[in-house]
Amino acid sequence: MIRASRTWAPANLALVKYWGKRDAVRNLPATSSLSATLGLFGSEAAILPADADVLEVQGDPRRAIRVLQAARDLTGLRDPLRVVVRNTVPTAAGLASSASSMAALALALSRALGFEDDPLWVARLARLGSGSAVRSLLGGFVEWVAGIAPDGSDCQAREAFPAEHLPLAIRIAVTTDAPKPVSSGDAMERCRLTSPCYGDFVRDNPAAMEQGRWALADRDLARLGSVAEEQSLRLHEVLRAASPPIDMLLPASRDVIDVVLRMRDRGVPCFFTIDAGPSVAVFVEEAHADAVGSALAAIPGVIRVLEDRVAVEGARFLAEAP
Ligand code: DP6
Repeated sequence: MIRASRTWAPANLALVKYWGKRDAVRNLPATSSLSATLGLFGSEAAILPADADVLEVQGDPRRAIRVLQAARDLTGLRDPLRVVVRNTVPTAAGLASSASSMAALALALSRALGFEDDPLWVARLARLGSGSAVRSLLGGFVEWVAGIAPDGSDCQAREAFPAEHLPLAIRIAVTTDAPKPVSSGDAMERCRLTSPCYGDFVRDNPAAMEQGRWALADRDLARLGSVAEEQSLRLHEVLRAASPPIDMLLPASRDVIDVVLRMRDRGVPCFFTIDAGPSVAVFVEEAHADAVGSALAAIPGVIRVLEDRVAVEGARFLAEAP
């Protein structure tokens, strides 16, 4: 008999990027990554007993089906379930809604099936839904190590630094609500097979991780920013060099980058990061967050600016579902 369970998980933004898979079946990454967990934007999930399987999932249901099937295979569970997953971020607009939704779902399943005290079980399930979901289970600045073990036993995430180590506000310039034309997984595979700069991107990942870790250890926003911006621009170069090319950026995305660079020239401590989509996130010291938010909102093509900050907590349980 399963227990009803409700969870919430935050989205996260990558500073050093996960791009490519070393094992597509186990969904093990080719690169280690470093991310910041958000506080407000994320996803809710609920697991409830039902008379027949019901899936109420916002966005592409295939990821949730994969996670559910894996949970059934791991536990032998046969009971029908009602599975609800809802995003509080624009679905598939490059804001990692797959990360928050799959982290919320994996955590909800863990309590429903009695595995909530086993973080590795939860992470493994979350990873099968979406690699970056593993990072949404944790708060602060999160490091996800790619590892080399074929079974993925050394591919684990940990909180590298708590949020209060380097308190940062985040402003996200949303440039579209349209779903991505190519999923991250398909884009990664196309890059691996056809993009001439993919190999260099993967080869340089350990150095980028080292720079990111040290910049955080030193609370050095400028150095952290230079790693995150370089990673973002290189990721989109890798995408554009694929065949056929994948250009995820919009003119407004480039305008946001220009505004961030100009504000920084004027002394505003901020930097941008872009994941696999056209929205651009800006990390900034709290005292300058309003100025950055207003400048982003004034850019034609920015349809809204989301306000958030690096958050203390990752995925969590909500009051038990009725
Ligand atoms: C560009 O985690 O969405 O945001 O494992 O195939 O679901 P799958 O990929 P996903 O990829 C995220 C890629 C990225 C960079 C990152 O988050 O590190």
